[in-house]
Amino acid sequence: MSGHGTPIPMTSHKCGPLTGVADVPGDKSISHRSLILGAMAVGETKVTGLLEGEDVLDTAKAMRAFGAEVTQHEDGSWSVHGVGVGGFAEPDQVIDCGNSGTGVRLIMGAMATCPITATFTGDASLNSRPMGRVTDPIAEFGAQSYGREGGRLPLTIVGARNPVPVTYTVPMPSAQVKSAVLLAGLNAPGKTVVIEKEATRDHTERMLAGFGAEVSVEETEDGRVITLTGQPELKPQTIIVPRDPSSAAFPVCAALIVPGSDVLVPNIGLNPTRAGLYYTLQEMGADLTFENMREEGGEPVADLRAKYSPDMVGITVPAERAASMIDEYPILSVVSAFAKGRCHFEGVKELRVKESDRIAAMADGLRANGVEVEDTEDTMTVIGTGSVQGGATCVSHLDHRIAMSFMCLGMAADAPVSVDDGGPIATSFPIFEPLMASLGARVERT
Ligand code: S3P
Repeated sequence: MSGHGTPIPMTSHKCGPLTGVADVPGDKSISHRSLILGAMAVGETKVTGLLEGEDVLDTAKAMRAFGAEVTQHEDGSWSVHGVGVGGFAEPDQVIDCGNSGTGVRLIMGAMATCPITATFTGDASLNSRPMGRVTDPIAEFGAQSYGREGGRLPLTIVGARNPVPVTYTVPMPSAQVKSAVLLAGLNAPGKTVVIEKEATRDHTERMLAGFGAEVSVEETEDGRVITLTGQPELKPQTIIVPRDPSSAAFPVCAALIVPGSDVLVPNIGLNPTRAGLYYTLQEMGADLTFENMREEGGEPVADLRAKYSPDMVGITVPAERAASMIDEYPILSVVSAFAKGRCHFEGVKELRVKESDRIAAMADGLRANGVEVEDTEDTMTVIGTGSVQGGATCVSHLDHRIAMSFMCLGMAADAPVSVDDGGPIATSFPIFEPLMASLGARVERT
């Protein structure tokens, strides 16, 4: 089963020290938002450092289908000529968001308050993920949706003709849902209020303010309260996309578990809503340093230096930290196998509705490679012994982070580790194989 054509089986072999500089691609979350907000501004937004992975390219295609002009220039930069808030045209084809939950959920929010109809679909992974979490709040604005059971894709949305503003408490920790509601609120008159009990990545709020929307954030006893004034004229921006801390996690974690490694990963955004993994690794005893700490575009940025860390220990990662490292649990579970003792992750049930059920996918693959893992609906525990036998083929379930995590496992396990399909890696980290090879990894297509 693959949404990306023929499966690409891959095998990763034990390697010598990983050394050198790892220039990881642009941030996926910020790349999607640059294109979508650019399409909702009036005039030309310029973007450099955009992640040119399949997920973001699907969002670029979708923005064209809604009437924006999106151009990739020879120098690697992108421009978006937006149609203005409420200016989306009705697409004449089904919008295929491929593997991307962020793409489809944000775009559904953005079109929900426009007087148009659009039908969305995706690959087998995306079509199995819950969309009720977005169709419920957009119904409050006046949008109607017709999907499969559980609100699953393919799904048609009839945008609200006369949208009303909404006050919505997001029932699960989800930046995608928060963002969908805020983007819908852009074309509703008056104030849309979103309340989140736990802070999730805040790129949408920051970027909305950057594009000139009136948006305020208040920390209250009930959580973060975000208030947006609808129907602004968004001003086009020049955006430099920072490098993705979620992609940086792979070379960093590989360096921690491969003997003798010393890898520098420059220019990584350490926005506190994204940086939970790195503080967790330090707590485990990883030799991980933040060099050249600075502010860029209002965000903390550092160069990460990761060295082989044979003395890491298992810890409990509390539920409150989950949102700030939600995409990093698969690779953390690999690192945990090389630490000594129990690494226990609490409050992680959202992992079950990502590109795959990431608790099940990691538990199955780790066990097949000789690692002891315990899991419940909402927790995962890896019992680390400092070494991993390896030798098994894991199923990636159309999930880029599962595939990359097992390739990193193979770099340090005693026997090679394989995945049935590494194709999904192209959704977020298209240069994963050459970049890891340049550091000394031995990952091959088999
Ligand atoms: C994202 C939010 C998170 C994350 C995803 C990107 C975003 O999803 O897992 O990779 O860009 O808003 P949830 O909102 O489902 O937690």
